[in-house]
Amino acid sequence: DEDKFVSDLLAKMTLEEKIGQTNLRGTSSKTKELPEALKQAVKNGEIGAFLNISNLDYVDELQRIAVEESPNGIPLIFSRDVIHGFKTIFPIPLGIAASWDTEVAKKSSEIAAFEASAMGIRWTFAPMLDIARDSRWGRIAESPGEDPYLASLLGKAYVEGFQGDDLSRPTSIAACAKHFMAYGAAIGGRDYNTVNMSEPLLRNVYLPPFKAAVDAGAATIMSSFNEVNGIPASGNEFILKQVLREELNFDGFVVSDWDSTEEMIAHGFASDKKHAAELSANAGMDMEMNSTCYADHLKELISEGKFSEQELNVFVKNILRIKYRLGLFENPHRDKSHSGNYYAEAHMDEAKKAAIKSAVLLKNEAVLPLDKNTKVALIGPLAHAPHEQLGTWVFDGEKEHTITPVDAFKTAHSNFKYAAGFTHSRDRSKNGYQEAIQAAKASDVILFVGGEEAILSGEAHSRAHINLPGGQEDLILELAKLGKPIVLVIMAGRPITLTKILDKTNAVLMAWHPGTMGGEALYDMIYGLAEPEGRLPVSWPKTAGQLPYFYNHKNTGRPANKEEYIEMDDIPIHAWQSSLGNDSHYLDVGFTPQYPFGYGLGYSEFVYDNMSISKDTIGFNDTLHVKVTVTNTGKRPSKEIVQLYTQDVVGSITRPVKELKRFEHVNLNAGESKEISFSISSKDLEFVNHKMVQAAETGVFNIWVGENARAGMKASFYLQD
Ligand code: IFM
Repeated sequence: DEDKFVSDLLAKMTLEEKIGQTNLRGTSSKTKELPEALKQAVKNGEIGAFLNISNLDYVDELQRIAVEESPNGIPLIFSRDVIHGFKTIFPIPLGIAASWDTEVAKKSSEIAAFEASAMGIRWTFAPMLDIARDSRWGRIAESPGEDPYLASLLGKAYVEGFQGDDLSRPTSIAACAKHFMAYGAAIGGRDYNTVNMSEPLLRNVYLPPFKAAVDAGAATIMSSFNEVNGIPASGNEFILKQVLREELNFDGFVVSDWDSTEEMIAHGFASDKKHAAELSANAGMDMEMNSTCYADHLKELISEGKFSEQELNVFVKNILRIKYRLGLFENPHRDKSHSGNYYAEAHMDEAKKAAIKSAVLLKNEAVLPLDKNTKVALIGPLAHAPHEQLGTWVFDGEKEHTITPVDAFKTAHSNFKYAAGFTHSRDRSKNGYQEAIQAAKASDVILFVGGEEAILSGEAHSRAHINLPGGQEDLILELAKLGKPIVLVIMAGRPITLTKILDKTNAVLMAWHPGTMGGEALYDMIYGLAEPEGRLPVSWPKTAGQLPYFYNHKNTGRPANKEEYIEMDDIPIHAWQSSLGNDSHYLDVGFTPQYPFGYGLGYSEFVYDNMSISKDTIGFNDTLHVKVTVTNTGKRPSKEIVQLYTQDVVGSITRPVKELKRFEHVNLNAGESKEISFSISSKDLEFVNHKMVQAAETGVFNIWVGENARAGMKASFYLQD
């Protein structure tokens, strides 16, 4: 069995080979010849895994050497960042989070695994499960959003999709829940920045998605670049040993982020590479990505008694266990008969479905859906940008297979004129304005597909201003002078602040970076063949100055709740009042977001009534049943996501004003009503307090059921002993 196999193999390995297993070698070689030194290193058993080899001959040859010529024939793992699709690209993960649909997460990762495994890739660095509450942070694009409950459900689904129910199946790939931990809480939303955080916050908000991934069987975990309260995560014993191993019982292996062991020198935590190796090793990091602190220094550290071979044995066992579970000892080689069916119709259909389920309709003054005969001016830098609409972390999806909005409108013979207006999203020149204005003049409706090109979000791509970049706002203001309806479609890796242009638009649709099938999905939504089904997985700010903003914040001693603040929007400076009251708000934008967490419109309307709860008081072993009637009062069938939030009014530490606890997707025909039932128990009300005790506390709870985090019918109940 697994344990015996791993222990027997370990017993045969030399110290050098053991250290070799901890070495994940990063490459990006595109040359025709395999470097001799690399082959020799594999032959010597000095490398355990590779990252980013995209040349299939290399993959085959290196694996052959590992299996046939290295001392114990231990297979390599080939890894890659397969984040939201391999060839067939799905919406960015923040978009998938907007679907609030675990099937979308699961199916997209299952297809990604199927396609990637044909390349010999058996390990991906996904899902990213960092809670993200600051849209300036470039990696919010790759995150599951701001809420731990939604992120946990998605985390589990991604792991199940990538790994399937049998990791040894050649089309399954090992998942890597990353970045452990709290990477998303970088101060100021600036990538790699410091994180300062109380332990209860870490445990209540940032940890749950990782717990869900570990419980779902995630094979690997990646430590993060950032420090947490002064200790870099990649050398953090509390995080890697106590939390991950002792509390979550994780039995896979932990890999560092790219160079994050060596970067502890720059953090000012390690004095040199040897010291970095000592710190990471003693903290419980099993495998080092790219930097070579372990490869160069573990042997020396062991001989000096600064690290023990017994502990190294644990690392090696963790790694071998995953290689065993992947079936690599039996089937190390790429299955050459498995083509991956790249861009297969079924894959493309799922990608299109995902793009529709992810799209969030933010505003609609009865302009959408358009009638088929409407003359449309299709304008904007993302209307026909095949690479850009794929989004961040796309290495393998080819733009030749992308269907842009222009492609889709052409194929469908829509009545439209295309004028990009810009060469790319940051273009500030006005060279394309006239052509765009002429196209708009000749049309009934202006469909402006703007946003951010792919490289404006993702790793190391944080922004301080998160409005539409380049001259896009100016062109929209020009177009608005024509007095024609403007539909703004945003393709971007983050919420985009809209204060300058929102009142000039008649509809706004957030498509995120929608992936390969984005154009077709958009076509269907614009003409009403489908409706946008997404809901915001993050609060949408009015301005970057409000960030970080999240719906599940604390109340403060002076909560702002005056209605007059809610409509406030960038009041011109001369109109400011010196004070609007001594409560917690901004003078210029109040205290509310532009659009709240959970928000999103469809092409119909819903009314909630008859909310009831089964009891006013529940005990710790009871279940509370909550019911509400939802009616589609509009004119067409539509989907609603019914959301249930609770508030623990008084706690031994202060508690968030609202927390998502349940949601349900409901499809209703025009005029149809349905009673929706939820049940919750004291387990759902637990949190970790200042003594690190996880428990629900007696007292009053508020409960809301509604369409987003700022709406809903309310009831209250009491939890008693
Ligand atoms: O997987 C990524 C990680 O998320 C950020 N740094 C590089 C890794 C490997 O490409």
